[in-house]
Amino acid sequence: MISGSIGPTLIGKQIVLGVTGSIAAYKAVALLRTLLREGAIVHVVMTQSATKFVTPLTFEVLSGHPISTEMFEAHQEMKHLSLPEQADAIVIAPATANCLARAALGLCDDLLSTMLLTAQCPLIVAPAMDGGMWDHPSVREHIGTLRSRGTIVVNPEIGSLASGRIGQGRLAGEGTILEAIQAALAPRRDWQGHRILVSAGPTQEPIDPVRFISNRSSGKMGYAIAEAAQARGAQVVLVTGPTALPTPKGIEVVSVVTAEEMTKALSARLAWSTTVIMAAAVADFRPSHPAMQKIKKQGRAAGQTIDLERTTDILASLSAQRTTQLIVGFAAETSDLIAHAKEKLTAKGLDLIVANDVTTEGAGFGSDQNAATLIDRQGAMTVLPLMPKRALADAILNRAQELLRTRQSGQAPKPVAGGR
Ligand code: PMT
Repeated sequence: MISGSIGPTLIGKQIVLGVTGSIAAYKAVALLRTLLREGAIVHVVMTQSATKFVTPLTFEVLSGHPISTEMFEAHQEMKHLSLPEQADAIVIAPATANCLARAALGLCDDLLSTMLLTAQCPLIVAPAMDGGMWDHPSVREHIGTLRSRGTIVVNPEIGSLASGRIGQGRLAGEGTILEAIQAALAPRRDWQGHRILVSAGPTQEPIDPVRFISNRSSGKMGYAIAEAAQARGAQVVLVTGPTALPTPKGIEVVSVVTAEEMTKALSARLAWSTTVIMAAAVADFRPSHPAMQKIKKQGRAAGQTIDLERTTDILASLSAQRTTQLIVGFAAETSDLIAHAKEKLTAKGLDLIVANDVTTEGAGFGSDQNAATLIDRQGAMTVLPLMPKRALADAILNRAQELLRTRQSGQAPKPVAGGR
């Protein structure tokens, strides 16, 4: 029987507790005991400098698991991959200014910082630092970067510091850190009551019964958005072009092939929806006269041409018909990312555009990760680094929520049917 807090349960949750080199490292021992009392399974990862303050043995005995400090420990699996894969949350307490800077910049020169680049679970950092470092512009900037990526920062408290000075820098209390962990692990239902129409994948435009014009979209980005929105409480309809992805559970999926079918499927559901997110890579052109029979090569000269005609610009057409829906589009660019994305934002009458440079290594079509800049109608930009598509999906949903809230509070103009 666990006598613990009244917050959401941590029973059975896998937590990686990162401890970095601060005098407050001893407080991580008490935090570890609290997490264990709450029923969590805790693996402790220490930086080398943390081991100067508290011995790994202390954490090892209490947690019941060996302590990881090194990237490459003999006869061990790749911990920088296996620990974050299994983790429900990573908590760094105390987090030094050095650790925050490395996390913000994506440096990975030890086990803890490398894990942060592979982790997909929530990250909670509880900074602790002395001597006014908390107010230094560089620390503020790194904290801002981490927050913009969804990291939960448990601010340090004001009080007497190890140096004897009074200031903000004391590690937040165990109870406060525990509440932040519980809140991060409680299912987020901030899209409950919303109906989201998501498009994904490519379209295929027939040339003849066996050939078509298409593109390299795998559908991963759109499916990640649909799954994230559903996990956050939204009712989701996913209109998808042909992909090899499994059907996501609990989501109504409408399968289409051509741009015209996608136009019809989305238009028919626009009135139902409160938000539209268009991640599909829709063909801009289709063969004007697809052949009814397979085109034979015999008797045809080289240099054959196919006449093309424009497909419907689905986003522009949805935006012209909308009433109150928030409309989010994507821009897949290979040059002048921001300028081209801004043009599309205006031309298609969008509230938000997700600009992705599809030439970025490891991002864009087909990959599991993506990097994007979110741009709204007021020109506000959020630059997001390379991250798993699911994490980007959550970041897009976060920004869309902010726009909806601003709109509800009457600070932003409501959309006008027929564009603006
Ligand atoms: O599917 P993945 O492999 O995961 O790859 C993800 C992705 C690269 C496809 C995705 O991140 C992305 O960028 N999707 C948009 C691709 C695209 O068609 O971009 P575009 O810049 O050509 O179009 C701009 C916007 O207009 C898009 O939201 C598009 O859906 C929409 N559009 C385009 C053509 C058209 N006829 N009608 C449209 O509504």
